[in-house]
Amino acid sequence: MNSFGVVFRVTLFGESHGPAIGVIIDGCPPGLALKSDDFLPDLKRRQSGSIGTTKRQEPDLPEILSGVFDGVTTGAPVALITRNSDKISSDYDEFKNVPRPGHADFVSRIKHSGFADMRGSGHFSGRITWGLVAAGVMAKKIAATVDVSAKLISAGGSDDIEKAINEAIASNDTIGGIIECRVKNPPLAIGEPFFYSFESAVSHVIFSIPAIKGIEFGSGFAAAAMKGSEHNDPFINSYGKTATNNAGGINGGITNGNEIIFRIVVKPTSSTGVDQTTFNFKEREMTTLKVKGRHDTCIALRMPVIVEAAAAIAMADLILIDRGIHGQRIV
Ligand SMILES: Cc1cc2nc3c(=O)[nH]c(=O)nc-3n(C[C@H](O)[C@H](O)[C@H](O)COP(=O)(O)O)c2cc1C
Repeated sequence: MNSFGVVFRVTLFGESHGPAIGVIIDGCPPGLALKSDDFLPDLKRRQSGSIGTTKRQEPDLPEILSGVFDGVTTGAPVALITRNSDKISSDYDEFKNVPRPGHADFVSRIKHSGFADMRGSGHFSGRITWGLVAAGVMAKKIAATVDVSAKLISAGGSDDIEKAINEAIASNDTIGGIIECRVKNPPLAIGEPFFYSFESAVSHVIFSIPAIKGIEFGSGFAAAAMKGSEHNDPFINSYGKTATNNAGGINGGITNGNEIIFRIVVKPTSSTGVDQTTFNFKEREMTTLKVKGRHDTCIALRMPVIVEAAAAIAMADLILIDRGIHGQRIV
């Protein structure tokens, strides 16, 4: 469904070519300083414009509709929208009957009985992550002492990101990438096992972002080939600081106070200019599709700030839950 969070509850709505997209944040503590300009730096980082991103240009300016008065949150739900303006809906007409392999066209046709708004990929568009990034700005204010930072570390399997992007553009194809997220100075002992462990809360938001196919914490998949004596992180002081960080800052689903580190896999954009085999549901025959229109060559280029928002949202919710359950900790 379209909401995440137990206390800090984020609801996303809208379609890519509808009048607007937006987010409602319920459970935001009152008295948090908040103005429209606060959203601009992170929203700008999500925008297209650089080489390898879509030519669609949206102002993405936020409009605060509720929950803020005299520059502070009131405790009522905060509703934010941005208007969609740069739309070429005809680019998507074909996909209703001829689904793009790898995209949501086929599954949404079945699930929504053909009623889904297909314009600009509708509610399946990466554009819906605007609201996630906006909620992330507020979450970062709640987790104020924490420094969340994500970056693209490889694209198309290469460290030379610029070269990989240029090669993909030249071949009319698309590529994926790996984003690494680091959370410095994390709050100690947040995470609610079993089902709301730190990893499960973060992964829940992360896998809600379109085009993400994998996540690993700390040494991740490499742990399978390590010995216990290598993988364990030796303690070096009474605060729980460890000499190594194979756990990625989490034990037992609870943050251990060391830096939180995770990496995610972004798949190559499914809308590719290379011929793909698909089925024409109207003509009832196999066909070949070469996707035209405006698409990101590499979605991962726009993903770091979205990943930061996902981490911050999960963390803000877990911090507020922890405060509610444990109050002020005595040890
Ligand atoms: C910021 C962002 C931008 C995206 N841009 C595109 C795009 O231009 N073309 C495309 O085919 N998919 C794009 N996607 C991915 C699709 O939304 C996604 O692949 C699709 O909804 C299917 O979901 P899945 O990949 O999770 O299976 C984008 C995703 C994000 C997060």
